[in-house]
Amino acid sequence: MSPATPTLETAREAFPVTRECIYLNTGTYGPMPEPALQELLEATAAAERQGIACTRDIMQDVNRARQGLAAMVGVEPGQIAMSRNSTDGINLVLAGLDWRPGDEVITTDEEHEAMWHPLLYLRATRGIVVHRISVSPDAETMVERLRQVASQRTKLLTFSHVPCETGTRLPAAAMCRWAREHGIATMVDGAQSVGAVPVTLPELGCDWLAGNGHKWLHGPKGTGFLAATPEAMLALRPAHVGAGSLAEADWQAGRAVPHATGERFEYGSRDLARWAGMHASLDWMGVVGWPAIHAHIARHASALKEGLLSLPGVRLLTPVAAEASAGLVSFVIQGHSFQAVMDHARSRRSIHLRPVPHYNATRAATSVLTNSGDVEALLEVLRELPA
Ligand SMILES: Cc1ncc(COP(=O)(O)O)c(C=O)c1O
Repeated sequence: MSPATPTLETAREAFPVTRECIYLNTGTYGPMPEPALQELLEATAAAERQGIACTRDIMQDVNRARQGLAAMVGVEPGQIAMSRNSTDGINLVLAGLDWRPGDEVITTDEEHEAMWHPLLYLRATRGIVVHRISVSPDAETMVERLRQVASQRTKLLTFSHVPCETGTRLPAAAMCRWAREHGIATMVDGAQSVGAVPVTLPELGCDWLAGNGHKWLHGPKGTGFLAATPEAMLALRPAHVGAGSLAEADWQAGRAVPHATGERFEYGSRDLARWAGMHASLDWMGVVGWPAIHAHIARHASALKEGLLSLPGVRLLTPVAAEASAGLVSFVIQGHSFQAVMDHARSRRSIHLRPVPHYNATRAATSVLTNSGDVEALLEVLRELPA
């Protein structure tokens, strides 16, 4: 059982997975802390067992989750649209803007399918032009790359704050500032940054920030959000509306006006119980303390990078500097396939990693549930690999 008031020292006890294996894949799925999981299960049981007779005010859970997410990314609750995942948030923006053939978008060449598939789809169906620039943690370099591809037709700059394969942290604020100065709208995919490093929408200076609950926020699967400035939220035309998303619905007058807030994207009957789990996770992580969690993640990522660099034949894909990275650490071991590295780590010490086949690399994620023993165990099994 985890203590009632978790601290950074006791946080690990709230994650039973740490007693079964060495879990270094919060970058894919962050397990929920046990007390938050209990809250999710209770809310789900109440809704599913009692149906309409359920006395739990589930909208209160939704609102608490909205407030928690808003506080997390430095906006007002009305600036949050609840979604199912990051991909959802990205699609709300891409589908909510007006596109003409020839409109241009700038993104990077390290995007997750969550970004490049919707962009590819827009290109195929609406005739937009997509420029993909390569990635660097250096602000001047990135701004120069933007300058080289931007044109009068550039309408949107959209990119991952921390691309999932190399784990580089992009100089998002400088990129968004440059875009804003040039009249280009901006969207940041915060799937690998929100919760892993401090991130707020005002500090990024972007119009939209998409994220999910199931990685670094350790919330339930199927939770995500789109945060926006009030103007940017209003600028999106929802592709779908229904019960709950319209502020004005007047058949006689022919008026259908979506809410000005994120609720413009929320409609119909949904699994609202998961938001009880989401706010419970946020509350729990908040008690542990976000500054302490961010420092913990960075400290363990740095220790892992340092250890990896001392091994023969290891090449890091992730920048060494903490401010140029987050919680992901990707590496290549010369002479070994990513699959061999993953299989070896799994069979020797039950270490769970993530493959990055594109670079023949392996990715580890250090998170709130990681301790120095986990980092040492990974380094130890890698040392056993023949040079
Ligand atoms: C950078 C990045 N963006 C988006 C996603 C997709 O997130 P979701 O499953 O919440 O849509 C991932 C998932 O790994 C990711 O790493």
